[in-house]
Amino acid sequence: MTADNEDAGFIMAYEDSADRVPVLWIHGFPLNNTMWDPQITGLADVARSIAPDLRGHGLSEPTLATPYTVGLFAEDCLRLLDYLDAEGPVVVAGLSMGGYVALEFCRRAPERVLGLILAATKATPDSDAAKKARDESADVAENEGVQQVVEGLLGKMLAPRTYRDDPELVEYLHSMMMGTTPEGMVGALKAMRDRPDSTVDLPEFEMPALVIHGQDDQLIPTSEAKAMVLALPSAELVLVPNAGHMVNLEQSEIFNEAVRSFLEKFYEE
Ligand code: MLT
Repeated sequence: MTADNEDAGFIMAYEDSADRVPVLWIHGFPLNNTMWDPQITGLADVARSIAPDLRGHGLSEPTLATPYTVGLFAEDCLRLLDYLDAEGPVVVAGLSMGGYVALEFCRRAPERVLGLILAATKATPDSDAAKKARDESADVAENEGVQQVVEGLLGKMLAPRTYRDDPELVEYLHSMMMGTTPEGMVGALKAMRDRPDSTVDLPEFEMPALVIHGQDDQLIPTSEAKAMVLALPSAELVLVPNAGHMVNLEQSEIFNEAVRSFLEKFYEE
């Protein structure tokens, strides 16, 4: 961009991402906002990226007084947008647990949502068996630290092919997961355990939506993505080959292309 800097008598070129579509990137479990680095960099020309670390994750402090819920995480995101004066609607993008928070954000503040990106996530709640497994993992994290939970999860986060071909990504993901505090891990496990069933709300979410899912996701089956697309009034589905749960990292170019063409519609309006 350029501005006529009349007083100084020259045309000044500058960069200001304020004219780009604001995207709130909400990370998954047990991760942090660096998982969005390929999107923040690769989509910088079309997106103003706002990527919080949720409580107890990444560089955000853990808190103890309030039980973590997806509602609390969504309110934290809303407060961050207010703090940044991003009062207009934003595209809300969440991966996995971030998707659960994104759905909660839509429930609480639909007027603040320009568009919705749901990656590697689902609208269904935890089964009884899944709730029990959350409690067991929370006990382990509370009593022994995060390592055992991280080791148990790491083998399911990526597509089998990614483990074989991209050891650097495996290591990068491992260290990101290990950076989560025990308090953050326990809180997030309980928040996910108690999250509401969002399937009933999907027909009400009229904003444009993009659902992206890795075809080799070992944690959440593609059937969950397909079901969300059928229930949402205005959603498109992108199934990404050779990608597991961390679809945005494993196939970042395909992921970014899908997001780029989704964001274009907000420039046309
Ligand atoms: C995530 O990746 O955020 C979690 O694995 C989601 C979940 O456990 O339901």
